[in-house]
Amino acid sequence: MKINENFLKIQNNYLFSDIAKKVKAYSEANPDADIIRLGIGDVTRPLPKAVTDAMKNAVEEMEDEATFRGYPPEWGYDFLKSAINKNDFAARGVAICDDEIFVSDGAKSDCGNIGDIFDVDNVVAVCDPIYPVYVDTNVMAGRSGTLLDGGRWSNFYYMPCTKETNFLPALPEKHVDIIYLCFPNNPTGMAINKTELKKWVDYANENGSVILYDAAYEAFIVEDDVPHSIFEIDGAKTCAIEFRSFSKTAGFTGTRCAYTVIPHELKVGGFELNALWARRQATKFNGVSYITQRGAQAVYSDEGKKQVREIIGYYQNNAKVIYNGLKSLGYEVFGAVNSPYIWLKTPDNMKSWEFFDLLLNKVQVVGTPGSGFGPAGEGYFRLTAFGSADRTKEAIERIAKIN
Ligand code: MLT
Repeated sequence: MKINENFLKIQNNYLFSDIAKKVKAYSEANPDADIIRLGIGDVTRPLPKAVTDAMKNAVEEMEDEATFRGYPPEWGYDFLKSAINKNDFAARGVAICDDEIFVSDGAKSDCGNIGDIFDVDNVVAVCDPIYPVYVDTNVMAGRSGTLLDGGRWSNFYYMPCTKETNFLPALPEKHVDIIYLCFPNNPTGMAINKTELKKWVDYANENGSVILYDAAYEAFIVEDDVPHSIFEIDGAKTCAIEFRSFSKTAGFTGTRCAYTVIPHELKVGGFELNALWARRQATKFNGVSYITQRGAQAVYSDEGKKQVREIIGYYQNNAKVIYNGLKSLGYEVFGAVNSPYIWLKTPDNMKSWEFFDLLLNKVQVVGTPGSGFGPAGEGYFRLTAFGSADRTKEAIERIAKIN
């Protein structure tokens, strides 16, 4: 009997578990401390009323023998897939089929599980810094090679995204097979425009690579030339898979609903990835509950859309408060415009974790150390706009005191 030894290669815990542990230890040692949490990107506004009303109706249906439902379809109910298609794609001029949409319990799980349909020998390209799930799941799957000094893995191709690159990755200089892109980006909060994304689509088509495009923060886009979906770019259907989520859009972090789009045109070695994923999901996943999918469908109702816009506007306002507040204190700040994340340079070249400790110990504000997202994140720090408006304002007032 042997375990999957790839798990032993991962030395750290999941980033947000480490932060939670540190904060818990601090609050046990300082029970009266009033901590403001702007670390993990977890929402704080309640679900839109249109969503909870739809969920209540669905609960009543489940109570009645005539309308009760058992297992949901593994790939999502038709009513939700067609609402997604109509509103998130057709409305933006993107033609996809409902059976190219797979409803799931989260973009995080899909981004991790998608590796099941790819060979272990594929070369993976990742941005640095990056959402740790892409890296860790590929380490678990055996694609990483060994951990090098400096925190990078020997078999991954790294694309630094720093101030010097305007936080955009450069096209790979060698062949890569799987490319993870996340825009608007977690953690830097920076977006990519259509012209830049087109270069990636062309690269992937020319090199037979597959882009895994995480668009979980799409709802925060305000600039016209920033695509909401990679499928707005010509040629993307033959090289890209897109992950979308209701978590940050409609407050579903605790409710769990997302979806992944895999066009039929996307083929590797002549095989449709759509068919492989359909098979994978049918075998390993039993679908999202009827109640949750009715809630997600309501996001696209007139009322739902209005309520979602209000919630996003609330967080966008927090993002401005953090961005402008830090700027006026002399910090170098990025992101925040098309994103709920604010990415800042630590003062006096402090290490990211040093700055984390400073904020926690001196002013009881929790953020996320940039180095937790990869070596190129060292010297940076992430704050989220997902807190309450009052607490966000207070966090900046407290940070001003350190200055
Ligand atoms: C984050 O803080 O980066 C997000 O909450 C991660 C996630 O969505 O899983």
